[in-house]
Amino acid sequence: MGQAHSRSYARIPMLFPERPADPRLVICADNLEARGLEAVRSFGFAESTTDPARAIEHPDVDVVVVAAPNMLHEELCVAAAGAGKHVFCEKPVGGTPDQTARVEKAARDAGVITGVGYNYRWAPLVIYARQLIEAGALGEITNYRGRFFSMYGSDPLGLLSWRFEHDGAGYGVSSDILSHAMDLAMMLNGPITEVTGLAETFIEQRPLPKPGEGTHYDRGEPGDPTGPVTNEDYAGCFARFDNGSIGNFESSRSIVGPQSQMAFEVYGTKGSIMWNLETMNEMKVFLTDANDHLHDGYTTVYAGDRYPYHGAFVPGDANAIGFEDLKVIEDLNYLEAVVSGRQHQPGFAEALDYVSVQSALIRSWSSGGWEKVQSVRIA
Ligand SMILES: NC(=O)c1ccc[n+]([C@@H]2O[C@H](COP(=O)([O-])OP(=O)(O)OC[C@H]3O[C@@H](n4cnc5c(N)ncnc54)[C@H](O)[C@@H]3O)[C@@H](O)[C@H]2O)c1
Repeated sequence: MGQAHSRSYARIPMLFPERPADPRLVICADNLEARGLEAVRSFGFAESTTDPARAIEHPDVDVVVVAAPNMLHEELCVAAAGAGKHVFCEKPVGGTPDQTARVEKAARDAGVITGVGYNYRWAPLVIYARQLIEAGALGEITNYRGRFFSMYGSDPLGLLSWRFEHDGAGYGVSSDILSHAMDLAMMLNGPITEVTGLAETFIEQRPLPKPGEGTHYDRGEPGDPTGPVTNEDYAGCFARFDNGSIGNFESSRSIVGPQSQMAFEVYGTKGSIMWNLETMNEMKVFLTDANDHLHDGYTTVYAGDRYPYHGAFVPGDANAIGFEDLKVIEDLNYLEAVVSGRQHQPGFAEALDYVSVQSALIRSWSSGGWEKVQSVRIA
């Protein structure tokens, strides 16, 4: 993700002539020296360090982008906010809801502008979905289905990277990918008021990684020494929204088949829409007002320069854009917020909205019942 944000800031001037300022990549901090040096050699950073404090305190740095493993986020974000720097943190900000709450409080107290990496909000067709819902094209929303199914942890020989350990990641898929699905749900369909769910760890041991090498996409060999997985592979739940509609969510990192199925379906009294990251340049739309032949079924809408931001990347209809283009749109919007001095959305306040739901979900894992969502915001 650090690489993705670096490429994204480098591309903003080439893609958006109307940008409010030109970002400069001042200093990259990574505990592995070689990665910092590579950031200088290949990504255009002026310098690198193995000490994040040096990057945070650097006088030329206005904005700190935190893209380290989740359990390091609190320390880095609190230090950055304390130094008066604006902070963009990768989702879900903290590895645990309590950590996210403490980070949000520190940034609020410091008055800095925050951002969080819920990048699927920025897909042009997701923005269009939001416009359709806000315009009432779907009627009254009755139910919402959200899921994030990924295969990144489906191979039992996949290494025990930080994502599979509570000490490195905090919670498992509920922090890592369910957060994306529920953040989108709340953006599209409003607050969630109660949840009941369950979690499971299907692959309990994984080969140990070599320190300082590899990612969660690398694999070990049969017979390699293993260690225990200490957070969940699967999390799912039913939910009630404040607007009276019902939600149903699932996320898994160990499922076989769906490769990056970050998807939603929104059903209303006058229509419905379906979107899936795997085919992010398409959306299925069914609108009764627009369709005299109700049994014709869904219409496929192809992304193109008629939709927000798309034309900055490629002109015309149905010419596709990709995952990292969403990071550019995200970083452009954050840059605009910082330059104009207004709070950005999604910022740490929206991260808090998700972890408040996550906190209720975690309670339901042990109570087995419905749990009310209570804000974990620290006064
Ligand atoms: N928004 C998205 O779609 C998305 C996708 C992937 C990851 N993420 C988030 O991005 C963050 C990073 O995930 P990733 O997949 O890039 O992880 P990664 O393991 O590939 O990269 C983490 C980097 O942090 C460095 N690091 C580790 N400890 C450090 C320390 N003490 N000080 C400085 N640097 C340190 C590592 O050397 C590595 O370069 C996570 O919070 C994750 O949830 C978001």
